[in-house]
Amino acid sequence: MSEKTKRELLYIDGITVDFDGFKALNSLSFIIYYRTMQAIVGPNGAGKTTFMDIITGRTRPSTGRLIYKESINLLKYDEAAIVGLGIARKFQRPSVFPDQSVLENLKLAAFKRKNIINSFFYNQKNLDNEFLMYVIEQIGLDDFVYQKAGLLSHGQKQWLEIGMLLAQEAELLMLDEPVAGMTDEERARTSELLKVISKEKTIIVIEHDMDFVESLNCPVTVLNEGMVLAEGTMDVLKKNKEVIDVYLGR
Ligand SMILES: Nc1ncnc2c1ncn2[C@@H]1O[C@H](COP(=O)(O)OP(=O)(O)OP(=O)(O)O)[C@@H](O)[C@H]1O
Ligand SMILES: [Mg+2]
Repeated sequence: MSEKTKRELLYIDGITVDFDGFKALNSLSFIIYYRTMQAIVGPNGAGKTTFMDIITGRTRPSTGRLIYKESINLLKYDEAAIVGLGIARKFQRPSVFPDQSVLENLKLAAFKRKNIINSFFYNQKNLDNEFLMYVIEQIGLDDFVYQKAGLLSHGQKQWLEIGMLLAQEAELLMLDEPVAGMTDEERARTSELLKVISKEKTIIVIEHDMDFVESLNCPVTVLNEGMVLAEGTMDVLKKNKEVIDVYLGR
């Protein structure tokens, strides 16, 4: 990996989230680099979703620093402003607009970012049909451009939602359990899709499906009780006794 692609996109330093004395995150630190994919795994309650809640401004930490693009203190921004900064999140349940077409859903997502930025200087690129058609091609929905989103399969809806993050021109995509409820074939296609997207964007993906995580071929962080238990590639983690004890062996 070249020095350029190794630049830090997000610097997470000593983040603690305290829910009335219970530490959902306990002095968590790590770095996310530009144009990489990072998987986060761990048992239920490990703090994975809370970690995303912190980055997106939904939950505030009691201590710690969160620095985006080397100088932006994310803790000073609210949820909407953070979307404006290029950080977009997909929740587990698809939230597409069922009565709108695939193309319309992407346009609505693009407008959402535009309204947040609300700037005279806003780059209109993401409202161009050409750009949106490129997104549709990336997510493999070329044959469904004018199809109502409500009629898509579960997997196709999830891909459309990933496309909506791309239409917002997000730089950092955060996906919480993207393959839950998908067929094996849909999981394989999602893995390919994320690998392609991570050439241009940064992706953080939380998943419980270890075969899927392994297929992503990316660094994996194991969280447990709000702390990093281990980091590495999936084939190394699979042999780590602590990881087996708290998670994989269960
Ligand atoms: N708003 C809250 N108030 C109190 N406790 C909370 C709150 N949100 C989360 N928690 C607790 O923090 C811990 C971490 O929760 P979190 O949802 O981050 O886990 P997770 O790793 O995403 O788990 P799962 O794999 O089940 O999705 C859990 O014990 C949860 O009950
Ligand atoms: Mg969760």
